[in-house]
Amino acid sequence: MTEFDILVQGGRIATETGVSESDVGIKGGKIAAVGRELGAAKETIDATGLLVLPGGIDSHVHLAQPSGPGIVMADDFESGTRAAAFGGNTLVMPFCIQEKGKGLRAALTEYHAKADGKCYVDTSFHLVISDPTASVLGQELPAVVADGYTSFKVFMTYEGLKLNDREMLEVLAVARETGALVMVHAENDDAIRFLTERLERVGHTAAYNHTVSRPIPVEREATHRAISLAELLDVPIMIVHVSNGQAMEEIARAQARGLKIYGETCPQYLVLKASDLRGMDLEAAKLVCSPPPRDAESQAACWDGLQRGVFSVFSSDHCPFRYDDERGKRAPRGQESFRYVPNGIPGVETRLPILFSEGVAKGRISLEQFVAYTSTNHARMYGLYPQKGTIAPGSDADIVLWNANRRMRITHEILHDACDYTPYEGLEVTGWPVLTMVRGCVVVRDGELVGERGFGRHLMRDRPPSAEPTGKLVTEFDPAPRRV
Ligand code: URP
Ligand code: ZN
Ligand code: ZN
Repeated sequence: MTEFDILVQGGRIATETGVSESDVGIKGGKIAAVGRELGAAKETIDATGLLVLPGGIDSHVHLAQPSGPGIVMADDFESGTRAAAFGGNTLVMPFCIQEKGKGLRAALTEYHAKADGKCYVDTSFHLVISDPTASVLGQELPAVVADGYTSFKVFMTYEGLKLNDREMLEVLAVARETGALVMVHAENDDAIRFLTERLERVGHTAAYNHTVSRPIPVEREATHRAISLAELLDVPIMIVHVSNGQAMEEIARAQARGLKIYGETCPQYLVLKASDLRGMDLEAAKLVCSPPPRDAESQAACWDGLQRGVFSVFSSDHCPFRYDDERGKRAPRGQESFRYVPNGIPGVETRLPILFSEGVAKGRISLEQFVAYTSTNHARMYGLYPQKGTIAPGSDADIVLWNANRRMRITHEILHDACDYTPYEGLEVTGWPVLTMVRGCVVVRDGELVGERGFGRHLMRDRPPSAEPTGKLVTEFDPAPRRV
């Protein structure tokens, strides 16, 4: 009989398909067996009374990202992956940004240099395409997809990042040819700039007005447009950080038409509201992210999208800027308008507890759905399944032990990022991760960091089945056949 390196014994395993009372035998960093009475092991981890879940995968985080002149992202790879591990995550997927005028290879080389030797959990990079020149589209992008960077994000807003519709189509066409999955930030940039200027003209510059400058129609319209562009070429896309029911219903309608349009939502759209920014004055900057949090109706719609399976993944969109810092949320003097507040909020460590508590503990979603939305579907969407995202023989031993009854009050003091606040300060949750294991190595145990900096590896990925075209075209236009 095999002797395992580790036996995780006595727990209840939950995967996307069900829950069972089973042990997990681990050898060489992989899951070797799942069942009872598996045999001897060098080390036993007692999971009695705990849930044994596939490690969290957060496919939408921002770490060490260039964020504009004078602005510095709070988390680098060390602090960001440390916080991720404490939050029950074993893999995070940050964005390697192509800066305008630069190539993709150069961006990847620089970004890898920032990550190498620093990570506590595994990583896999998406790209952001901001400058789709002929050489990027014709040579670099196909080459890096072939290398294993099989997903990229495009922005419909933000100076320096946004693509126009023609550029979006060019990028989508390359995604179709190469088999990569495109993630879309859907907000109408012209409308945002128009509203921003009007607000500033009448002196409405406080941080709360960020939410007024990006109302639901701005997101709904761009979501509809992105879907329409994808439909023209029969290219699957993932609409990221969906904040409300109107955008979610655009996705649901496209899905009902047989299109492969995927959706992602995030904790901020379940538990924060635009009205939370009112009356906070400067501190409202702590909640500035795009799209902004909405209202109770939008929160209910996002839950509905999770319950109905309109969304595929639940990510943090962790994008941390320190609050009490001129390089973060506090705009430099002379720029006292919401438009200068860096967009983004931290959340990589709180994503799982918030969904578990608000979703599973309150009976809104099942434990199996929780596993799918926080782990399995991320692996499936981005070409890592079944290496990641499940507890099954042959998969990486990425496991989180979960105390479903532990009550915690979220406050920044208990978190492990390099930010100086949490948007969820004071939120009471039920359910907390107590052990995080990456490829058979314990990284966090009972609130202590025991893993080694640099243990986390970067993973190249397969072309995801999620990105395969449907084969159904809505026009007579026949896009280039896939070359994969
Ligand atoms: O406000 C946000 N979400 N900032 C992060 C960048 C992005 O658009 O995902
Ligand atoms: Zn975005
Ligand atoms: Zn983001």
